[in-house]
Amino acid sequence: MTIEHEVAEILKQIALNEEIKAYVLQHPSLYQPLLHAARRFIGGETLIECVETARSLNQQGFAVTIDYMGESTRDSDIAQQATQEFLRVIDAIATQNLDSSISLDLSHIGLVIDPELAYQNACILAEAAESAGLEMMISMEGVDRTSLILEIHQRLCKTFNNVGITLQAYLHRTADDLEAVLQRPGKIRLVKGAYVAPTEVAKPRGAELDESYRQLMERLLTSRHPCSIATHDPALLDPLPLEHAHRLIQDQKLAQSSIEFEMLKGVAQERLAAMRNQGYRTRVYLPYGQEWHLYLCNRLAEYPPNIYQAIVDAAKLNFVSS
Ligand code: FDA
Repeated sequence: MTIEHEVAEILKQIALNEEIKAYVLQHPSLYQPLLHAARRFIGGETLIECVETARSLNQQGFAVTIDYMGESTRDSDIAQQATQEFLRVIDAIATQNLDSSISLDLSHIGLVIDPELAYQNACILAEAAESAGLEMMISMEGVDRTSLILEIHQRLCKTFNNVGITLQAYLHRTADDLEAVLQRPGKIRLVKGAYVAPTEVAKPRGAELDESYRQLMERLLTSRHPCSIATHDPALLDPLPLEHAHRLIQDQKLAQSSIEFEMLKGVAQERLAAMRNQGYRTRVYLPYGQEWHLYLCNRLAEYPPNIYQAIVDAAKLNFVSS
């Protein structure tokens, strides 16, 4: 195991450790600098802050998708509160005229408590989003939830045309899942996959996963189904030269209006800007809220050099002049 892999494993464990999280929350001397480091990756702690960040990104020519951060809610009151907060997000997007969709984890609005609760809450949100002319993207979670999430998406698609779904290229099952969701309306977002998963069901990071992503991306792009190519991988996206996706789009004269490139806020934004400058539709995934501890640890774990940036960001708050 390389030192980067070891660091990544430790960070993933820190991310999930409730005691460490509680300690951070109780100690402003830790909370404030870590929040400062997290700000690179999030839209803020409140919806008001997030709306401002979204507006600024829109002004730079990026669409956004706003996610009120949270997952694996085990208390139905919290699932209902999250649903209400997403309704406020939809309202803010509509009234502030933002170029934004919403993104959510079904487990934030009740999946772990009762799949029916998540479905009912998702219906409320899909309907409100539809009335406001917005798209609602469903994120994909750990492998134990994949089938359930796809089933709920299928049910939602019987009523709504504005509900998209995320598929993870690292799962062996995804080629089949892709064929199934291509039959449904709604955007398909293709990611590599972020959750820990055993090799029986998923490919580890590396050449084999990258090849899988390329094949699925090819299938998705040539299907002409509305899609989001959601990766920061320069081998897949680098516009100078714009490799695989760009060549395919040009060769096959695919309509650019149904394709977008999407990246996480604070990650490889120069690559997204280069795609925007090439005339592609681009979108920034913009999470906000107080559950940033897990999100920050995951961003550092998937790319350990980010730790240096996080230290600089955190330190600038207190004792380093910029
Ligand atoms: P990979 O991790 O191989 O990175 C390729 C290159 O990109 C790196 O070498 C580096 O240059 C750059 N890079 C990647 N991550 C970076 C970082 N944090 N900081 C700086 N540079 C970085 N996952 C999931 O399981 N379910 C989901 O619903 C979603 N949703 C989602 C939405 C959107 C819009 C995006 C962009 C991503 C997700 N993901 C996700 C996360 C996804 O599965 C994956 O973990 C990350 O995107 C990182 O994978 P890459 O495809 O970028 O490749």
